[in-house]
Amino acid sequence: MASIKISGLSKRFGDVAVIKGLDLSIEDGEFISFLGPSGCGKSTLLYCIAGLEEINGGSIRFDGNEISDLGPRERNIALVFQDYALYPHMSVRDNIAFPLRQQKLDETTVAKQVAWAADVLGIEPLLDRLPAALSGGQRQRVAVGRAIVRNPSVLLMDEPLSNLDASLRVRMRTEIRKLQKELGITVIFVTHDQEEAMVLSDRIAVMNQGAVQQFAAPMEVYARPANRFVAGFIGSPQMNFLPAQICGGREGHVVGVRPHDLKPQPELAGDFTLKGELLLVEPAGPFQFLDVAVGDHIVRATCVDPAGLAPGDTVTLGAAREALRFFATDGGQCVNHQS
Ligand SMILES: Nc1ncnc2c1ncn2[C@@H]1O[C@H](COP(=O)(O)OP(=O)(O)O)[C@@H](O)[C@H]1O
Ligand SMILES: [Mg+2]
Repeated sequence: MASIKISGLSKRFGDVAVIKGLDLSIEDGEFISFLGPSGCGKSTLLYCIAGLEEINGGSIRFDGNEISDLGPRERNIALVFQDYALYPHMSVRDNIAFPLRQQKLDETTVAKQVAWAADVLGIEPLLDRLPAALSGGQRQRVAVGRAIVRNPSVLLMDEPLSNLDASLRVRMRTEIRKLQKELGITVIFVTHDQEEAMVLSDRIAVMNQGAVQQFAAPMEVYARPANRFVAGFIGSPQMNFLPAQICGGREGHVVGVRPHDLKPQPELAGDFTLKGELLLVEPAGPFQFLDVAVGDHIVRATCVDPAGLAPGDTVTLGAAREALRFFATDGGQCVNHQS
């Protein structure tokens, strides 16, 4: 277990600055996600913390101690990759034991630790199999077993669930969260999947272009996005963004409203209303999404009962004032809920 403090971290590849003066403080025992689009620098930042990439500036501290000059082995971290990286010719038992044998621990300790990790992950029956004889989910568990077997202070995971099918992903993320709680370990989990980050994390570092856009609890980034990037990245379907002139907002601002907060209503009355032509009713189970053309924009709204609504109809949509977010046209900062 360890707290992590990153200050002014920069990382370049040649002339290309991938991370530019990044600050982040992670508490001991927190589950943190790095969330952002592909190419924004999540893996690079993770590898800098792991010691697999050298940094070009700034510092990384574990429990207050500078570690950026230490090699990966000296940092007491463990890393789980997307492709699991198991040794194909070794049994599950030997794969999990591998980092312990590298540390030259005696075989009694190795056996004890492997048995503990296998028990925690429920993979005892698999110990004598080769990786080729495992399903994707089982391989993932073995990779996690190999990572936790040394009792690392920090567990770093780079898109560890991306290769699994949808239902298994959901199951594995519950398991990973449970495991983290049991071990009380600090976890950094890299993902481009906002739902995964929302469900798993104590806090999410939303990243774009090598910078942290917001670092806060899941519902905080959802309800009070710091800027337009965060507002657009978190939440599905995406928040609607409308120029002020379409919906009567202030000049110099874009109005954001989430589809779940925008509903059909009988007439143009209330805090925020829009009128447009219904293009499509999309069933989404307990409710439906409505795609409505408002001027040049397609706006998404939700509706519990679309009876009587058909494409081509003119519909009026309304939202409560509290649901509106205003973003500066210039720079995208959210301006209506800053403390
Ligand atoms: N070894 C490398 N050499 C040069 N450029 C790299 C290297 N690794 C990553 N990059 C670049 O750094 C940027 C961030 O990459 P990465 O951290 O892998 O993003 P993410 O994990 O968020 O998808 C990308 O533009 C990528 O092309
Ligand atoms: Mg990556």
